[in-house]
Amino acid sequence: MAADASRQLSGRHLKGRPQMTLSVGNASSARIVGIGTALGERVLTNEDLAEMVDTSDEWIIERTGIKQRNIGGTTAGLAARAGTAAMEVAGVDPSSIDMLILATTTPDRCVPASSSRVQEALGLDCGAMDVNAACSGFVYSLVAGHGMIAMGHERVLVIGAEVLSRITDWTDRATCILFADGSGAAVLERSEQGSDLLGWHVSSDGSMEEQLYCEHDGYIQMAGQAVFKKAVLVMEESARQSMKQAGLTADDIDVVVPHQANVRIVETACKRLRIPYEKAAMVIERTGNTSSASIPLALDDAVRSGRINEGDNVLLVGFGAGMTSASALLRWSGAPARAS
Ligand code: UT7
Repeated sequence: MAADASRQLSGRHLKGRPQMTLSVGNASSARIVGIGTALGERVLTNEDLAEMVDTSDEWIIERTGIKQRNIGGTTAGLAARAGTAAMEVAGVDPSSIDMLILATTTPDRCVPASSSRVQEALGLDCGAMDVNAACSGFVYSLVAGHGMIAMGHERVLVIGAEVLSRITDWTDRATCILFADGSGAAVLERSEQGSDLLGWHVSSDGSMEEQLYCEHDGYIQMAGQAVFKKAVLVMEESARQSMKQAGLTADDIDVVVPHQANVRIVETACKRLRIPYEKAAMVIERTGNTSSASIPLALDDAVRSGRINEGDNVLLVGFGAGMTSASALLRWSGAPARAS
């Protein structure tokens, strides 16, 4: 009997059926209490790129919306800066963190996980793990963090950090104009006032692997148009799943914080969702595509500029290599943010 019951819950048994969405309910009583960010050391403008490959400022702005990006540093170094800023602005001591989750596609070494180096650098006394869900990684980790607090932790530090410049081919104009380095962090804390997570959704479609990948010691390989087309669809689908779980509609969304991949992808996804593009928090013009750091970087900017306020319905939504997608609908807790 027991074996039958456990098989019914297994992923294998569910294959081919509609994706299961777990209920959030009251168990996941956690909230974001602080956001922090960091950018790579050096600014690289479109003009700089035009001296390196056959491209132009006009082409890059028109096709992507990017004007400049930051590069340089290490994944652990950027993560530690963002994590420090998040803990300081949240007013929490490193010793009070129960778990560190680091979303990254660019660990400083294959082994060990970069999260262990960050744990040491920040003086944390807790478990630490890396999550690789590409550009969806921060949202995957945020959802996992809520789950860990539901299972008993008090505080979880969630960080997205990338040094994509390390796996970018700087002679390939089709990719080098997009990618950049940075980090964003959030402190999650148990809350007696209920969860800020109203709905969430994560997904993966491994059949898309060849469209966007990087071999060991290689560079990012990307079929740009194929990724573009699929990205729009999976962002829409993931956002709809989170809104449905939350019992909200597109009209209820105050701010969308999308993965900063390409302005045109975000415009198209917003249009399909019937959410005005003006509600999208965008930093891509200044940051480029920083993969798992891109959503917290945009979130930080929107909070600091006063675009996101306590009580707002905030939709985080992204996609990435895999192809993964993820979304989280948050009722904003009023947490402060700080850039390092
Ligand atoms: O985190 C997820 C990561 N990936 C993405 O989000 C990528 C999604 N895809 C995209 O953002 C877009 O497909 C790109 C920005 C990568 C490319 O834009 P596009 O509008 O799809 O351009 P395209 O690939 O169709 O290329 C159009 C033309 C081509 O020339 P021809 O064949 O029309 O003569 C390219 O060779 O533009 C050329 N081109 C460039 N020209 C100037 C490609 N890259 C460049 C460049 N500068 N950097």
